Amino acid sequence: MTTTTPFGAANTAVLGEPKAQIARYQGLRSANSLGLTRSRHAPISSASSSLIRAVATPAKPETVTETKRSKVEIFKEQSNYIRYPLNEEILTDAPNINEAATQLIKFHGSYQQYNRDERGGRSYSFMLRTKNPCGKVSNQLYLTMDDLADQFGIGTLRLTTRQTFQLHGVLKKDLKTVMSSIINSMGSTLGACGDLNRNVLAPPAPIQRKDYLFAQQTAENIAALLTPQSGFYYDVWVDGEKFLTAEPPEVTKARNDNSHGTNFTDSPEPIYGTQFLPRKFKIAVTVPTDNSVDILTNDIGVVVVTNDEGEPQGFNLYVGGGMGRTHRLETTFPRLAEPLGYVPKEDILYAIKAIVVTQRENGRRDDRKYSRMKYLISSWGIEKFRSVVEQYYGKKFEQFRELPEWEFKSHLGWNKQGDGSYYCGLHVDNGRIGGVMKKALREVIEKYNLSIRLTPNQNIILCDIRTAWKRPITTILAKAGLLHPRFVDPLNLTAMACPAFPLCPLAITEAERGIPDILKRVRAVFEKVGLKYNESVVIRVTGCPNGCARPYMAELGLVGDGPNSYQIWLGGTPNQTSIARSFMNKVKVQDLEKVLEPLFYYWRRKRQSKESFGGYTNRVGFEKLQELVDKWEGPEVAPARYNLKLFADKKTYEAVDELAKLQDKTAHQLAMEVVRNFVGSQQNGKSE
Ligand code: HEM
Ligand code: SF4
Repeated sequence: MTTTTPFGAANTAVLGEPKAQIARYQGLRSANSLGLTRSRHAPISSASSSLIRAVATPAKPETVTETKRSKVEIFKEQSNYIRYPLNEEILTDAPNINEAATQLIKFHGSYQQYNRDERGGRSYSFMLRTKNPCGKVSNQLYLTMDDLADQFGIGTLRLTTRQTFQLHGVLKKDLKTVMSSIINSMGSTLGACGDLNRNVLAPPAPIQRKDYLFAQQTAENIAALLTPQSGFYYDVWVDGEKFLTAEPPEVTKARNDNSHGTNFTDSPEPIYGTQFLPRKFKIAVTVPTDNSVDILTNDIGVVVVTNDEGEPQGFNLYVGGGMGRTHRLETTFPRLAEPLGYVPKEDILYAIKAIVVTQRENGRRDDRKYSRMKYLISSWGIEKFRSVVEQYYGKKFEQFRELPEWEFKSHLGWNKQGDGSYYCGLHVDNGRIGGVMKKALREVIEKYNLSIRLTPNQNIILCDIRTAWKRPITTILAKAGLLHPRFVDPLNLTAMACPAFPLCPLAITEAERGIPDILKRVRAVFEKVGLKYNESVVIRVTGCPNGCARPYMAELGLVGDGPNSYQIWLGGTPNQTSIARSFMNKVKVQDLEKVLEPLFYYWRRKRQSKESFGGYTNRVGFEKLQELVDKWEGPEVAPARYNLKLFADKKTYEAVDELAKLQDKTAHQLAMEVVRNFVGSQQNGKSE
């Protein structure tokens, strides 16, 4: 196993990052946070921690109106903890809600949208996003979501990059029914969007390994710690009926602890207060090597550290990751999280709270483009950030522990759980579950009473499968096109796209609807330049620079920058530890080959042993790559070689044979059928 220095990947990746202009903002409530007001102007050493006093809820709202604040801050302040005017707006006959309620409903896990494909008047609907720490979904909740998509949505479910479901197309009149159905199935959408802690990620694999179980338990505890407490969600959607979920006593204790001035005393929201956080906040937990969670793209990345016996001892913490940016505004940027330090396991909730409170008190609230914690850390530098967090934590962070290299783990395919059962990870293109696939999943999940995990890559894992069920389950799934990952094009396995058109109001161009064609064209380019079928690159596409499908971590990121045109980002790596950089602007979608052909051709020809595409583009540098693109005249034509054998290798033959048996065919029959169907569909112009 190779090792990196503790500060390895993250440090190199933040080099050259622009500094945000953050000092101008004077803070939220200077009167009540003496120590922190000082901290904005001079670095604070931990010795000055006595300066921090309890940060109380402002006695009068007027005290928070002194500095310039964004409109959303005012909506929050006037909302009586995220209730008003949403509670009134959802009762009117209008199909939509007003501006303030549109902002507030995000905290309840919903976005107001309208269909941008339709001309004429706007047809409004709502998107609902669930919250499922570590992607855990009970059997009952899955079946409820499946029903709701048909009854009240657009008939499909979408799995997201944060291990949650999205339900699109819910009408305002149905919102209460849908929300209460989710709540009654012990699900929740509370805090899935809005300025607070979002869904907490953890590796989804249901394996009986101490470190994995501990990471998942920690993710659930952090999610509970940072769940809003003031009851607005239940007031609005189930008329105040309380659905109490038991939380471990250590979570309650950590939330209520105010030894270091973190809490709003006498407030229904001891951590968030009236203003909640300046912006969304994202946390992921994982174990060493398993980067299934894109750990460095989060505000806080938490990594379990174990002793030699595999017993969890504590956690390494990274801080300051984030993807969003704005086109043509260099002061906004995607950023990788960097190491903060190590905490013993019993302190984790206190350390998380201290970081959240540091952002709550010091993150910008005047301009939402700069409100994420990454801009605070970028402006202050990690040393100052650490020293302020330490005051709220009440301790110094220990030295970040050495970690092995990260790997991307998809958790797809059939795997043993370690308790006698199996789990089966299935790839779902763009996380969109619909049609026969939706029916087949429901059939299997219902019949075998399976529980579910959602992955951070828009895929689904079926859990607790007995050996005897493997074959019948495989058959049902295969008939619906849900195949073992070795039958899926490797390009599709790691590709992601955001929803973009027609429902996202911010989309500039297509993403989810455009990516199937883009992937086919990339595969064709691969063939043309002589790359093999089992070779791949991580491709991610978004319809605008907000980066919902994390394109800035891709080896090839396409970020919409105009109608049918994309910025091209290069330099991410397969293990998601390097941030991409913008390579070209305004590349029309029909011209992608002009850029991709030379890039892939020279990667194949000039790469070092096992060098990934991302590694190659970083090593060669953008200037040289640009020259190759500009001078490109097509690949050198190699003499044609014909291979009349259907199967080039034994492994492929065995894989096809296994699949064919499920359909009572021979491998040869199945292969010929696939070829004939493909040719037929091409001829009919229906290659989709
Ligand atoms: C300023 C506005 C927005 C920003 C900066 C933003 C940013 C992001 C980022 C960075 C993610 C990645 C999730 C992660 O951290 O792992 C994400 C996820 C997501 N966002 Fe946004 N987002 C914005 C608005 C929207 C809107 C309006 C929609 C409505 C459709 C949307 C839909 C999604 C979806 C569906 C995901 C999950 C990704 C997926 O599976 O496709 N976002 N967002
Ligand atoms: S990246 Fe942009 S277009 Fe895509 S879903 Fe997010 S906000 Fe919408």
